[in-house]
Amino acid sequence: MRVLFLGDVMGRGGRHAVAAALPVLRRDWRLDFVIVNGENATGGMGLSPDHAKGLFEAGADCVTLGDHAFDQRAMREFASVEPRILRPLNFAKSGAPGQGVRVFDAAGGRKIAVAQVLGQVFMKQPYDDPFSAIDPVLRAYPRGGQVQALVVDMHCEATSEKTAMGHWCDGRASLVVGTHTHIPTADAQILSGGTAYQTDAGMCGDYDSVIGMQKDEPMRRFITGMPQTRFSPALGAATVSGTYVETDDSTGRAKRVEMVRLGGRLAPAGPAPLPEILWSGHGGA
Ligand SMILES: [Fe+2]
Ligand SMILES: [Fe+2]
Repeated sequence: MRVLFLGDVMGRGGRHAVAAALPVLRRDWRLDFVIVNGENATGGMGLSPDHAKGLFEAGADCVTLGDHAFDQRAMREFASVEPRILRPLNFAKSGAPGQGVRVFDAAGGRKIAVAQVLGQVFMKQPYDDPFSAIDPVLRAYPRGGQVQALVVDMHCEATSEKTAMGHWCDGRASLVVGTHTHIPTADAQILSGGTAYQTDAGMCGDYDSVIGMQKDEPMRRFITGMPQTRFSPALGAATVSGTYVETDDSTGRAKRVEMVRLGGRLAPAGPAPLPEILWSGHGGA
């Protein structure tokens, strides 16, 4: 199965870049399934139902969220009626709307399970232990069994915690990929048990920024400690960033993994053919 995972979509620039790129990538890379992290797609803070629909229309089969899952109030209801949206499994002890894991239909009658967990290190809220949260999922949906592939989105700050999650899932998941830091790491690899892994997929956003936000206010806060205005998403051309993986349908093991970076300021990467996708900064929230 050919699966593309795109990291945190940042504001309008990220949404426009994904809308321009995804139909081309689906066709040129003959993708069977696409997962997009949408936790920052609406003004950098959360995901509105309309913007979620836009990501699905662009070609996402599943949209994951994160610590910003419910920043947009309407998502509280929408997550419980739109089964293609996943919030972190361990978001709250009880009462979080929506679901944290689901089995999806992929092309050719195949099945793929997707789950998301939140880490604990350096996060603002004391979320439950993600390792215990994901374990029953790994047992319930062994890759190569009733599902041909299993993908885990590990949403957290610390590279160490993400790497530990990769090894915890190795031999059981097809792909473990990190989100949340908005900076792609250069460590895409297949772990010894056949699990593809990348510490962070990076964001779909403008990298002439501080993790997707216009530079001035975050710099001011670091330098002076004094907030002056709200953060707002950067306005320039976005880079579409993520992870591409090919899995063996009979075993669920990863056969190939590639880092993906297209457009904007970052050096391009991805499986050939690398499409010429042209878009400019659309800016705004
Ligand atoms: Fe996040
Ligand atoms: Fe994010």
